[in-house]
Amino acid sequence: MSAILERINGCASFLEQKLKEKPKIAVVLGSGLGGFADSIENGISVEYRDIPGFPVSTVEGHRGRFVFGKIGEKPVAIMQGRVHFYEGYSMEDVVLPIRVLRALGAEKLVLTNAAGGIGNGLTPGDLMLLTDHIASFVPSPLLGPNESALGPRFPDMSEVYSNPLQEKARQAALETGVSLKNGVYLQVTGPSYETPAEVRLYKALGADAVGMSTAVEAVCARHMGMEVCGISCITNLAAGLSKAPLSHEEVQETADHVAAQFQKLLRRLLELM
Ligand code: HPA
Repeated sequence: MSAILERINGCASFLEQKLKEKPKIAVVLGSGLGGFADSIENGISVEYRDIPGFPVSTVEGHRGRFVFGKIGEKPVAIMQGRVHFYEGYSMEDVVLPIRVLRALGAEKLVLTNAAGGIGNGLTPGDLMLLTDHIASFVPSPLLGPNESALGPRFPDMSEVYSNPLQEKARQAALETGVSLKNGVYLQVTGPSYETPAEVRLYKALGADAVGMSTAVEAVCARHMGMEVCGISCITNLAAGLSKAPLSHEEVQETADHVAAQFQKLLRRLLELM
């Protein structure tokens, strides 16, 4: 067996021993959005640091654990925090959790993040449904020998964010009265925020929001045939679009303000999935 498959299976078997039921849906909670996991009743939580070979986040606002539980009748696996490329992890490490979740049985994936607003009239506090992404500014997580047990060498990316799941997210927004905008997400490596000139470049390229995660996880999930949905919490205007300097504190503060709305929307989306 290849080293990567051994690593995935090792983490998955460790987690399987702790679970009563295999998760069908996986959720990754981004910066400041982790509170949703605390609302799961009778959940089983597993700290990332307790899983042999599993990458552990060093970022403030990222809790670093799985919560396994149920939304309605559906078994879900929730990641409260993720690791990022800028922390020094390889892309293989960054997407390992997604591969472990697939190995556990998850067929659908909801990715969430905090992002800076660039276009589509997005302002701080908005929630944005990802309609597509631009991953051209980060290395592909699929570089290197292809592991054919996971997926094909040249996976199609023409509908990364499933149209049916997008429809469910819009329906969830309508039913809960939470406003949900649309847009294209662009991933950068960070950790520095963008310059105003970079933000103008990304806008010209068609990006509506910019952040430091998600697109590579979505690529990895699509490689394995998972159905993906993405939601950004717009925590700030991207650099140069407001006079204020950017800070992680501002990102967390805005995410805190939106948390209740975000959780309402996510819960309904998961029920509908
Ligand atoms: N840029 C990049 N990543 C981010 C931002 C931003 O403005 N806000 C939150 N995450």
